[in-house]
Amino acid sequence: MISKKMEDALNKQIGMEAFASSAYLAMASWCDTEGYKGCASFMYAQAEEERVHMLKIVAYVNEVGGHALVSTIKEPQNSFKSLKEMFEETLGHEQAVTKSINKMVDMALTAKDFASNNFLQWFVAEQVEEESQVNGILDLLRLAGKDGRSMLLADREIGRMRSQAAAGEAK
Ligand code: FEO
Repeated sequence: MISKKMEDALNKQIGMEAFASSAYLAMASWCDTEGYKGCASFMYAQAEEERVHMLKIVAYVNEVGGHALVSTIKEPQNSFKSLKEMFEETLGHEQAVTKSINKMVDMALTAKDFASNNFLQWFVAEQVEEESQVNGILDLLRLAGKDGRSMLLADREIGRMRSQAAAGEAK
């Protein structure tokens, strides 16, 4: 049986993952309207991934005797000044998620809740991957600068990164 404190923390995390999914969907849609097709496909896939994260937590909370709750989420940002601003926003959100996951790991270990610690370790590894990926994209955008042709190449490259990640996940 899960503690009430851990159940509440995981329920808060469900909201965070739901918000991430909706924020990335809004980003994907903005990219689509701006003609950044590579970034749009990257963000549509990210939105799906965040939904999967959310569902993983829902399943775990219910499996260990808690009650997974769905809460209201705030409206995400729908427009951006640039791809750089959009990915900086993404990085900020992922860093907040990492902080929240780490806090729950700490809580689980303190309470000797080894099942929750074990469950959360998947998210610890996932966050390392996600932060590193977004940092890589921000580096790429910095190198591309503002020139239209370079931005187009960067957009294609970001779309390719997503397809490669998907191919890796399917293996
Ligand atoms: Fe599920 Fe990207 O945090």
